[in-house]
Amino acid sequence: MARAAPVPQANMGQPDARIDGRSKVTGQARYAADFPVPKPAYAFLVLSPIAKGRITQFDPAEARAVPGVLDILTYENSAYDIKELPFSGDGGWAGSTIRPLSSPKIWHDGQIIAMVVADTFEAAREAAYKLRVTCEAETPTATFDSPGTQTQLGTAVSKRHTEDPAVGDAQRGLASAAVKLDAEYYTPTQHHNPIELFATTCAWDNGKLTIYEPSQFVYGLRTGVAQQLGMDPQDVHVRSPFIGGAFGSKGSVTQRTAIVALAAKRLNRPVKLVVTRDQGFTTATYRAETRHRVRLGAERDGKLTALSHEGWEVTSRSDAYLVGGTRASVRMYASPNVASKVSIVRADRNTPGFMRSPPEVPYIYALETAMDELAVALNMDPIELRRVNDTMTEPIKGNPFTSRSLMQCFDAAARSFGWSARNPKPGSMRDGEWLIGWGCAMATYPSQMSPAAVRVTINRRSEVHVAVAAHDVGTGAYTVIAQMAATRLGLPLSNVRVDLGDSALPPGPVAGGSITTASVCSAVLKACDAIREKLGIADALSGEALERAFAQRGVGVIEQYTEWTPDGAKPGAMKDLFDGKTSIVGGPMQDRISFAFGAEFVELRIHDLTREIRVPRMVGAFAAGHIMNPRTARSQLMGGMIWGIGSALHEETELDKGRARYVNDNLADYLVPVNADIGDVEIILVPEEDTKVNPAGVKGLGELANVGTAAAISNAVFHATGKRIRKLPIRIEDLLEA
Ligand code: MOS
Repeated sequence: MARAAPVPQANMGQPDARIDGRSKVTGQARYAADFPVPKPAYAFLVLSPIAKGRITQFDPAEARAVPGVLDILTYENSAYDIKELPFSGDGGWAGSTIRPLSSPKIWHDGQIIAMVVADTFEAAREAAYKLRVTCEAETPTATFDSPGTQTQLGTAVSKRHTEDPAVGDAQRGLASAAVKLDAEYYTPTQHHNPIELFATTCAWDNGKLTIYEPSQFVYGLRTGVAQQLGMDPQDVHVRSPFIGGAFGSKGSVTQRTAIVALAAKRLNRPVKLVVTRDQGFTTATYRAETRHRVRLGAERDGKLTALSHEGWEVTSRSDAYLVGGTRASVRMYASPNVASKVSIVRADRNTPGFMRSPPEVPYIYALETAMDELAVALNMDPIELRRVNDTMTEPIKGNPFTSRSLMQCFDAAARSFGWSARNPKPGSMRDGEWLIGWGCAMATYPSQMSPAAVRVTINRRSEVHVAVAAHDVGTGAYTVIAQMAATRLGLPLSNVRVDLGDSALPPGPVAGGSITTASVCSAVLKACDAIREKLGIADALSGEALERAFAQRGVGVIEQYTEWTPDGAKPGAMKDLFDGKTSIVGGPMQDRISFAFGAEFVELRIHDLTREIRVPRMVGAFAAGHIMNPRTARSQLMGGMIWGIGSALHEETELDKGRARYVNDNLADYLVPVNADIGDVEIILVPEEDTKVNPAGVKGLGELANVGTAAAISNAVFHATGKRIRKLPIRIEDLLEA
């Protein structure tokens, strides 16, 4: 057990077990679809069978004849009931601007075109299958290189990606470089597939709506659905106390929630919808495929003279979603000349969205594979190439990193991995029939924050309650938030109770961008300090001193409501949060630059004859400021690296290019790593103190560790075989000799 609960080093909290662990393993924790509602009706979605065109006719007779069917919602009877919602692209709002059930137009395969409601789930499903739909189909555009794509500059169409960072003269820097690299990389379509299915239950009571839905942003969902239904957000209550995995797929207002609310209103009865696994592929968001061209120029000693990163991302016709990961990739290494450009490529697809470490996963994969290629071209150790180009100021604006322990991470991981025994010659290391490949790469993720409001109460028995509409997506948020209150008040963890995931609580940040711990813990810290001040107690808040302080004030409970807004937040950011809008700051967006770092090392074994690829061991070392809890931190980091194996070797949503349709929309064919795919995963926590990033000194690490893993694996494949594969996932067929 010691391995699961690492001994805290400098600037780390206790490795406490999750305070919600017992309720989860005993089944007491209620996930959205678990909430009982009186006499629910059950809904089943009907999705478009074509990717482009229009519905010409519904014939509902057969569906209506199924016993127990109560209602069938289509655009023909719902077109005016759901209003438009603007696309913010920042999460929390519409994942797509397509107005649900508003017209016969088909934007993408699997679009919601009807919803059947019945007394039972089985009746709803049967009727959904029996609803006859006739469509007029046009030839859709599936992806890159398909006929009919439209390419646009990211800066021209995106609210998120407003500049292409550049400095100096990259063309000149490349032209004059002693050693050059120019390579293209590709990452595939991926779907989150959280184990908890997408689900929504809606219940009305006297004109007020309660929504039970796994949501990474209950305030955003509340405001968005209120707007869709023309309601006051005060009359909408969203409950999402536990979430069975999200990874970005539960952050936005979806296409389904308002329809379920509408059905419940029409029937005057609660309606419950659990979206099937395959339907989740097109009714929620996903990670779209990307392309990259990376050009690097270096002196013989490895110093970069130029870095250029161009990215192309597939998105939908309806929305200009893009991730734009050059904001990070061009700021990681010192280089006097930098150029970058991000474009979107529009196709007839559902709108992509955030998926764990959205920009960094594909963009840093490209950068870190290119860095490995450059190291090979320079005949240089890849760690030394990073060392030569390590920098404490970012190259675009010269802003200082608030802290950066990249090389400490490389050194710690290399030592534990045994990197010094590596023979750099490709194909030189073997164990019987197995080729051995050792590879490494950087992990990084911006340290970001959002405003947060918390209510902390304490009674004279020193029982503490923390309330904030933040979210635990399975990461341990309940626990680390409780730890912050306990530590700051000098009380045992068992004295603290935490409520999250409910729009009746003070607003917390979207559970995205790894911002929850940094933001909420900073707010809790501030609230606890205010409580101490009110009580006039400098040390632990227990025992006689607390009794005396309460007696003096003549009260039984002290309640502290505190708002915390990070430096650099735009004016009105806190009000925006109340209105369900995110405002995330940090990362590269200020006069300082904040990123968490890590280094990941992988040993691969590739069978000489079959080319089967195994990953017997990985070592990752990470530095992320103050570590609230080494146990939950290790768990997040380990999970990230394991997902990295998935993204490198397994995951790809296959597209039927003629129909612009996902083919492997189930967990049997959409490959994810299972226990048998995972060998030893060692996580090293590198102590780091960052006094500038935020009051809690915390850099989020939820998304850090699955950045870079794919590059480390790809680099190890090259080391084992001498074959450079520039696309993901890497599969047996890529390694068979031509
Ligand atoms: Mo995460 S993709 O920021 O929910």
